[in-house]
Amino acid sequence: MSSIRIAVFPVAGLGTRFLPATKAIAKEMLTVVDKPLIQYATEEAVAAGMDTLVFIVGRTKNAIIDHYDKAYELETELSLRNKDAILKMVQEVVPSSVNCVFIRQSEALGLGHAVLCAEPAVGNEPFAVLLPDDLIYNKGGASCIQQMVEVYDEKQASIIGTQTVAITDSDKYGMVAGPKLADNLARVDEIVEKPSPAEAPSDQAVVGRYILTPGIFNKLRTTERGAGNEIQLTDAIAELRKTEEIFAYSFEGRRFDCGSKIGYLEANVEIALQHDEMADDFKQYLKNLNLD
Ligand code: UTP
Repeated sequence: MSSIRIAVFPVAGLGTRFLPATKAIAKEMLTVVDKPLIQYATEEAVAAGMDTLVFIVGRTKNAIIDHYDKAYELETELSLRNKDAILKMVQEVVPSSVNCVFIRQSEALGLGHAVLCAEPAVGNEPFAVLLPDDLIYNKGGASCIQQMVEVYDEKQASIIGTQTVAITDSDKYGMVAGPKLADNLARVDEIVEKPSPAEAPSDQAVVGRYILTPGIFNKLRTTERGAGNEIQLTDAIAELRKTEEIFAYSFEGRRFDCGSKIGYLEANVEIALQHDEMADDFKQYLKNLNLD
């Protein structure tokens, strides 16, 4: 079992960039090829040894809860039709040894507030946070959160997943800065949410993977609304940094920003090109496309 047992999935955002698709379903239920975004994230957590999945859900929660529940009618029908392989796929969305907990965030007050809603399920232990709209793919290697658990085991401190971005994009991310300790590891001395390019402390952006110590909850309780008038996780991490060391880990793998339309389309194309069933046909289709 992993030293990090609990994974939190904040999936209560409004998903305004994907309206009207997200009017009645959560953004995290949009599919990349043949699986909803949320399933890529839960599979990443389960493969890293986590056995308790905490979903912070909002208004459009039903499809997410149903996706992780037993589907009696569907499973009976598939069984009667001898569709055994498909039945197995449906039953294995999560292994039966994994517990799913659903907590309602009644108002979308921000990512920091969503993480605070997880406190009753997390208690006093370190936990992972995965934002499913950041789909991170590391072909043949350890997943992003698995890599971060290994860093946590060594450092016993909060670890933030980071990536180099164009400085002109700094106002879309939390940005971190601090002394480099190894090729892919730095200490976090500064962290700021969505700074303008002129104010960005570096070109290192926070992406949607965190391992946090439970000390974050006390900080979140007193965090006021920040960028975008939302309660920002970044601001609470900046407070936590004053009392605990925090590290930034630049993971191996490719990240798709599936919260944006272009990132979502890129993920669909690239995952399809790796897909056992369709890679060859899809490659052929792309070759024949007349792009002019
Ligand atoms: P985003 O910043 O992508 O916001 O949230 P959003 O509402 O999902 O999407 P846009 O920007 O309006 O298109 C980052 C993550 O934090 C979650 C979201 O579900 C997403 O996984 N979140 C955000 C919450 O769970 N609650 C909130 O109040 C805000």
